[in-house]
Amino acid sequence: MVVIKNKKALLLCGLIGVTASISGGAAIATSHTAQTSDNMVASGLSLPRMDAANGRLLFGSKACVVCHSVNSIGGEDAPMLAAELMDQPMNPFDFAAKMWRGAEAMVILQREELGNVIQMSGKELADITAFVHDRQEQAKFSTADIPEDIRELMDHLEAEDLGVPHD
Ligand code: HEC
Repeated sequence: MVVIKNKKALLLCGLIGVTASISGGAAIATSHTAQTSDNMVASGLSLPRMDAANGRLLFGSKACVVCHSVNSIGGEDAPMLAAELMDQPMNPFDFAAKMWRGAEAMVILQREELGNVIQMSGKELADITAFVHDRQEQAKFSTADIPEDIRELMDHLEAEDLGVPHD
């Protein structure tokens, strides 16, 4: 069952890759197996455009900032995600693999501190990955990029850590 599902997903991936290359006006792959167009990295696979500026907003709105810091803003429960600490250049899959290695601790802490586990689309993860490797975009990161409810949660958690009475 699972195998059949995966095959379908792979097929779909391939179709999306081909459609994207056609609508982008790029060279149309005549053979599904042999040729790749601009952002197709392998047969049936394409990479999204990675937008570090949008990643900056997602770093706040997806609540990564609750535990990880950038530009001295954010929680201290987890490793800092400063661009200068990343391999430059980094294969984005290495970043995803790092997240995977931290997954167990992240899931436990996210349930505890956020009440839920963060959900992301592939494009959102791509944008966050770009942000995490972009020093210039990180320098722009400020508390104004963090939505009000996430800021309140951070204040609440900080007060709890300090043992200060709060609501
Ligand atoms: C509730 C807390 C929490 C949130 C929210 C959170 N993380 Fe984490 N994350 C952790 C912890 C704790 C670890 C460390 C796990 C370990 O050391 O094994 C970690 C590890 C990581 C690592 C591996 C770091 C390394 O140097 O090995 C990456 C990358 C990462 N997180 C990215 C993210 C991203 C991106 C988001 C937002 C989409 C996010 N995290 C949200 C707690 C969190």
